[in-house]
Amino acid sequence: MSAAGPQPPEPIPGARLLFSLDAAVAHLNHGSFGAVPIGVQRAQQRLRDETEANPMRFFTQGLVDRITHTRRHLATFLGADPEGTALVGNASTGIAIVLHSVRLERDDEVVCTDHGYGGVSLAVEREIRRTGAVRRTLSVPLDATDEEIVEIVRAGIRTGRTKLLIVDQLTSQTARLFPATAIVAVARERGVPVLVDAAHAPGMLPIPVDSVGADFWVGNLHKWGYAPRGTAALVVTPQWRTRIEPLVVSWQQDAGFPLRVEWQATLDYTAWLAAPVGLFTLRTLGVERVRAHNAALAAYGQWVVGQALGVAPADLLDPGGPTVAMRLLPLPYGLATTVADAIALRLRIAEALGTEVAVNPWDGRGWLRLSGQVYNRAEEYDRLAERLPSLLAGLN
Ligand SMILES: Cc1ncc(COP(=O)(O)O)c(C=O)c1O
Repeated sequence: MSAAGPQPPEPIPGARLLFSLDAAVAHLNHGSFGAVPIGVQRAQQRLRDETEANPMRFFTQGLVDRITHTRRHLATFLGADPEGTALVGNASTGIAIVLHSVRLERDDEVVCTDHGYGGVSLAVEREIRRTGAVRRTLSVPLDATDEEIVEIVRAGIRTGRTKLLIVDQLTSQTARLFPATAIVAVARERGVPVLVDAAHAPGMLPIPVDSVGADFWVGNLHKWGYAPRGTAALVVTPQWRTRIEPLVVSWQQDAGFPLRVEWQATLDYTAWLAAPVGLFTLRTLGVERVRAHNAALAAYGQWVVGQALGVAPADLLDPGGPTVAMRLLPLPYGLATTVADAIALRLRIAEALGTEVAVNPWDGRGWLRLSGQVYNRAEEYDRLAERLPSLLAGLN
């Protein structure tokens, strides 16, 4: 590596040993499904053992209190009002609850951006088919400044007509930090409710949820918060709380928000109860230290692989925030321009190079997304840089 590029961070001692990842594989895609530390896996297993020792006792004696206690702990970490926070299984569920609760009507408008997550887009499609609402997608150039993004949103929403604006806090396909707080402020001036899809925020971004001010905010703790999969939070401002309806009605329906959303009948709630152990792991390693490490490693990966692919340093996109631990690289033109081709390329890289990465099409081009996490090492990105160009050349 030449001195011109970013230096990789010092590894955090012992951090790699906290995970049970296959050592034969370079896991450079924490962003998609996270990775659960061994201590968190064990905590969840102990809770499952407790369930199986006496299911009646587990479900009927104290579980509601334990969920309430856990919610307070997780909400406090997120900088969210615990009374306005409901635990849900994942970001998709939280978003579906919001789409269902805002009660769209014929010709109401849902405004999204072209950086939105594919699964969310499908959820919006279904809701507009069901209600006769319409969807408007705002184009946001990849290199737009924060001010430009806010202006695009300002011009794209309409008082009275736009019933919901959905924006990502940190985009998935394009690894870009959006100025969510400023966007919410603009929408508020226009009286437009905002749903912030913050699937990647918990654990990674140092932005307190309540400071964003969104009507609805959804974030996964099972990505960068080291929680077991199935742990996410839906945060709602006071004026909407009584209007939030769970997708599944069960015994806590009359308890109001948030419990009516959280209690989904007979379900495995152990992921939520073990989630504080994930935050404990993060705090033990040092939250700021982990954030700085991961962002620096992702930046290093972007640079070293970008050099190998011949990407000009000026075209290495800045994600827009100092703790963003995912970075984007353009693939050679013509590669991975469709979802099917992107999946095929990701599998090829996994098989041939023993490396897990994210590959997505966006705006007619294929993109590689690299994550940085405490279990990663600079050598893993170096190896990818050495071997990826010939693999890609072989595909043309
Ligand atoms: C921006 C964004 N929104 C929503 C989701 C959906 O998250 P989940 O699969 O946990 O529901 C993801 C997942 O990666 C995402 O990146």
